[in-house]
Amino acid sequence: MATINDNYLKLKAGYLFPEIARRVGAFAQANPDASIIKLGIGDVTEPLPPAIIEAMHKAVDDMAARPTFHGYGPEQGYGWLREKIADFDYKPRGCNISADEIFISDGSKCDTGNILDILGPNNTIAVCDPVYPVYVDTNVMAGNTGEADDAGKYDGLVYLPMTAENDFNPPLPDRKVDLIYLCYPNNPTGAVASKETLAKWVEYATANDALILFDAAYEAYITEADVPHSIYEIEGADKVAIEFRSFSKNAGFTGIRCALTVVPKGVTGTDRNGERVDLHRLWNRRQSTKFNGVSYIVQRGAEAAYTPDGKKQIQALVDFYLANALIVRQTLESLGMKNYGGVNAPYIWLHTPDGLSSWDFFDKLLTEAHIVGTPGSGFGAAGEGYFRISAFNSRENIQEAMERIKTRLNT
Ligand code: MLT
Repeated sequence: MATINDNYLKLKAGYLFPEIARRVGAFAQANPDASIIKLGIGDVTEPLPPAIIEAMHKAVDDMAARPTFHGYGPEQGYGWLREKIADFDYKPRGCNISADEIFISDGSKCDTGNILDILGPNNTIAVCDPVYPVYVDTNVMAGNTGEADDAGKYDGLVYLPMTAENDFNPPLPDRKVDLIYLCYPNNPTGAVASKETLAKWVEYATANDALILFDAAYEAYITEADVPHSIYEIEGADKVAIEFRSFSKNAGFTGIRCALTVVPKGVTGTDRNGERVDLHRLWNRRQSTKFNGVSYIVQRGAEAAYTPDGKKQIQALVDFYLANALIVRQTLESLGMKNYGGVNAPYIWLHTPDGLSSWDFFDKLLTEAHIVGTPGSGFGAAGEGYFRISAFNSRENIQEAMERIKTRLNT
């Protein structure tokens, strides 16, 4: 009989969002007339920008004629898309990233998990707490942790608390770690890191020969001028950091699937003999073997994000969700509910009222107001007592949800 990967048995219950969907499904079944507004998973709701639709339609036409038909594309992504990313996302910010250091993929979630394929088993790994659960769960699956305790903390991981007490500025690890996951603008707290903060991380990674895995999936939501959009804005980061970006939250690609990972050629790890190995080469090998690239049609759509019209339309989408976030923040403030984020991120992070646990507040919001959010404890032990509201929804639903919070919630 085939044996299984026993590490999967260490995972806590379900992955957070399917678990929420399960609970909401049960509530909906028991209350078929309830009109439920979902502000849980950060999934976009607004249609794709017209410039992207047009480019994808044209790409479909390309596929309809032999001279312009495309079969397998390059596993790393088409050069014309990678060039645009380097020219528009990195060069203007002074980041020394070239097109051949960029890999196109079908999602940052996949890439932040898959990257473990090229890393060894004995790394000491630091994560923020709360944290996007994918970073932790994929390490559990890979056998990089021990068991979880009752609060959901896995033995072997170094947790860096990120709470109101430290202004959502996690401390540097108090020991030497090899791998550090950072996400800015932060999911779930909506916090950002200043240039000085990121410089400290780069300095730590350089001094400790550590690798930073930097998730910048929400960079388009940065509104404050002095907040860095990329870790490569920090000198030396191109020797110690891999960056993940996505078209999901800016261009609305959650259902289309396109993202990118930057593995600069100067980033290295060590093999079992202590010899330095270039991670770019390993990631290229990994992707060429296990991935056949993102479809031509989707990459043409992503390319249109860099046209003048595409850029304007994407900015309008981002502004739309940020305006939703403002409505949420103002409502919570008017009710005296302390909250964070929502200025440079599509997420609002709040203290649960009346000292309720995160899941108790989840249930209360669902049963009293028929609104779904995300319990902070689902992102880690230090998220207990917090709750996340996503600004991804129609204006009508956001307004209706806030009205319900004002009038139906018994606090
Ligand atoms: C979230 O809600 O945290 C995100 O939508 C999850 C994701 O992007 O995979």
